[in-house]
Amino acid sequence: MRPCDRRVPDGIVVAAPLVRREAPAGRVTLVHQPSLQTVPQGVTPVVMLDIASWRPRVAAVDVEHHARALEAGSVLVLPRLAFGIEADETRFLDVRWSDGKAKNISLEGQAIKGARGAADDLAALARMVGRFAADATALVGALFPRYAAHLLRARTSYRPFGAAGRAVSWRKDDTRLHVDAFPSRPNRGERILRVFCNVNPNGEDRVWRVGETFEAMARRLLPHVRSMYAGESAALAALHVTKGPRSEYDHLMLGLHDRAKADVDYQHGSAQREIRFAPGTTWICYSDQVMHAASSGQFMLEQTTHLPLSALYEPERSPLAVLERITGRELVRRNAT
Ligand code: SIN
Ligand code: FE
Repeated sequence: MRPCDRRVPDGIVVAAPLVRREAPAGRVTLVHQPSLQTVPQGVTPVVMLDIASWRPRVAAVDVEHHARALEAGSVLVLPRLAFGIEADETRFLDVRWSDGKAKNISLEGQAIKGARGAADDLAALARMVGRFAADATALVGALFPRYAAHLLRARTSYRPFGAAGRAVSWRKDDTRLHVDAFPSRPNRGERILRVFCNVNPNGEDRVWRVGETFEAMARRLLPHVRSMYAGESAALAALHVTKGPRSEYDHLMLGLHDRAKADVDYQHGSAQREIRFAPGTTWICYSDQVMHAASSGQFMLEQTTHLPLSALYEPERSPLAVLERITGRELVRRNAT
């Protein structure tokens, strides 16, 4: 089996395109990491998948293997899975389509947001982003059939800006290691599964740092997260800061997100590694679990999907279960709707 990653001594993973293989597109091969000793202990694993179709046929044994790797906090990298941008869509690889206000262009349902242009152009842009949404959703369904019936498709985003260099507050600065948590949309422990694809036309990698395991991060930072105030959840909902009540789980996840980003020593001193995603590479992770930071790169598509803990192979590895183990209490009211 040919390893499809090139690993240099300091643990950087280069997710370069593979040399073509004889295996038919859609056949899946799990490529084991060849030199684990170069990766710092306890850092997010990277699993390379030799898949070149958005609708692959995957053997049952591989399905479970990939799902368990994902649920254990790995990033699954598919260096041969490019998103097909049509000739007349290459014009969209330009920041001029942004409305200049929103960080990303996004598609929610049929509506394209954060973009500007003539109605025809915006409809074409929406079709491109919508095609990625369909491809990414099909991929997740094909790779993880057990999830398929439970998947809740959320926002699709197209990110035309460079990952670094935009002036944002530290809290919004995604070049700092963090787990994803949404201030206005409590998810009460539901998972955040994301599919990313680098569509850069100029050969520029998207570069991430990934950090230590969720549990190691939580044990280190949770003592610095304040408790919820009495009545805080109801007040946030009444003021429409949140859509629905913020559970204690959501409060702690936001607290961890903020503590990690605010802590300069943590940003530089915690165990981490770099991953380079070449153009034409797709990758998948639970972004509520994987400590990640976008260092550089431009032009990326991303699909967010939610799924309930009941869909998982190993719900005990989820952030909710880990935080409940650490705090020793229920963080979401199980009977609430
Ligand atoms: C993020 O999800 O935090 C940023 C990912 C990226 O822009 O590459
Ligand atoms: Fe993020």
